[in-house]
Amino acid sequence: MSEFAQVSRRLAGAAETTAANRSWWDAEAADYYAEHGRFLGDADFVWGPEGWRESELRLLGEVAGRRVLEIGAGAGQCSRWLVTQGASVVATDLSGGMLRTALTLNQRVSDPRAAIPLLQCDGTVLPFGEGSFDTVFTAYGAVPFVADSAGLMREAARVLRPGGRFVFSTTHPFRWAFPDDPDSGGLTVTMSYFDRTPYVEADSDGEATYVEHHRTIGDRVREIAAAGLVLVDLVEPEWPERNTETWGGWSPLRGGLFPGTAIFVCERSA
Ligand SMILES: C[S@@+](CC[C@H](N)C(=O)[O-])C[C@H]1O[C@@H](n2cnc3c(N)ncnc32)[C@H](O)[C@@H]1O
Repeated sequence: MSEFAQVSRRLAGAAETTAANRSWWDAEAADYYAEHGRFLGDADFVWGPEGWRESELRLLGEVAGRRVLEIGAGAGQCSRWLVTQGASVVATDLSGGMLRTALTLNQRVSDPRAAIPLLQCDGTVLPFGEGSFDTVFTAYGAVPFVADSAGLMREAARVLRPGGRFVFSTTHPFRWAFPDDPDSGGLTVTMSYFDRTPYVEADSDGEATYVEHHRTIGDRVREIAAAGLVLVDLVEPEWPERNTETWGGWSPLRGGLFPGTAIFVCERSA
């Protein structure tokens, strides 16, 4: 968030949301990596600010020999770890800036398998045929940054083979009602959990520069079902004692009291 941004709750459609968020992630890519790159590792798979890894949670199931698509891959750390586990991956992202960081990491990693294929595309319009992948996932990418998250679920389901798995982590919907403050200021409800009006930052002309969309837990379950997916688990990772780091509004204080991340584990109906 820029300190000069005007912050409001107002409607923001798909085109406005996509344009704003593409520019925002392009501009923030270097700073984001500088701030969070060490925590994420260059070839590691972390599901969220709690610091739980796929190597511990195993939410994707078997990945060796599987065709895996990552949506909103950022610098591609998760995909890079997956190839070291024997998966065949494609890492995609809306932002060319984020993918440029991914390319830099590709050139830096010593394991040649970890130079992953990168593709720029919007998660709501995936340039792949039906049933192209065994597994689709996103770790905090895309889901809150699109106006039509139901459409994103449909796209994920479309490119999955029957019986394939779609797993996504995102900010826990419960957090919407609280200010984005890692300290005690973030422990008091200040707005309605039920208010789906998007969070919009805008420049001095009122042009959106960053947009987040909120859905309740019930909304997410209905989006998943409408896409022809079956929800097999909803993981609310607890804050581990080993993690003493604050990431934006996520902190040991808040993490010890209520969930900060929700991980939805879904399968395409066979
Ligand atoms: C919080 S980062 C998560 C990336 C990575 N998993 C990480 O932890 O660094 C969110 C990512 O979602 C991407 N993103 C935003 N909107 C998107 C969209 N419509 N389609 C695909 N990716 C999108 C952003 O460009 C950004 O790279």
